[in-house]
Amino acid sequence: MLSQRLIDAINDQINYELLSSYLYLSMVAYCEDNDFHGAANFYRVQAKEEVDHAMKFYDYLIEMNARVILKGIPDPEVNFAGYKDTFEKSLAHEKTVTARIYNLMDIAMEEREHATISFLKWYVDEQVEEENNLNTILGKIKRAEQNPAALYMLDDELLTRVYVPITPAN
Ligand SMILES: [Fe+2]
Ligand SMILES: [Fe+2]
Repeated sequence: MLSQRLIDAINDQINYELLSSYLYLSMVAYCEDNDFHGAANFYRVQAKEEVDHAMKFYDYLIEMNARVILKGIPDPEVNFAGYKDTFEKSLAHEKTVTARIYNLMDIAMEEREHATISFLKWYVDEQVEEENNLNTILGKIKRAEQNPAALYMLDDELLTRVYVPITPAN
C-alpha cells in the first residue's frame, strides 16, 4: 500500500499533467489565431500527450488500490508575445514538470517504495525527451529569427508531428 503522502503527491501530479494539457491547448488557440499552423499542430499533439501522462498516473493509483482525487484546473495563460515566446514558456513549464517528477522520485526513494521508483523512471526519461525537443526547436527559431523563409520552413516541419499514444512498451 502506498503512503498517503505519496498518494497525495501523485494526485497533485495528475492535476498538474492536466494543467499542462490545458496550457498547450491554450497555445494551440493562440497559434491558430496567428496562422502558426505547424506550431498549433505541435501543441495539439503535446496536449494529447499530457492527458496520457495524467492517465498513466491515474491508472497507477488504481492499480495500487489507491483513490484518484481530481481537482480544479486554474485558467491557463492566454496571451503570448509571439512564436518564440510560446516555446520559451513551454520549456520553462517542462522544467517545472521535471522538478516535480524529481520531487516525486525523492519521496518514493525516501520511502523505499520500489514499485513507484520503477514506475517513475518512465517520467524521468520522458522529461529528458520533452526538454530536448523544445531546446532543439528553440535553437532553430533563434537561427531563423532574421529569416522569415526559414521560419516558415520550421513551421512546416512542425506540421508533420503525429500523435502516438503511450503503450506499455513505450
Ligand atoms: Fe507531462
Ligand atoms: Fe510535458
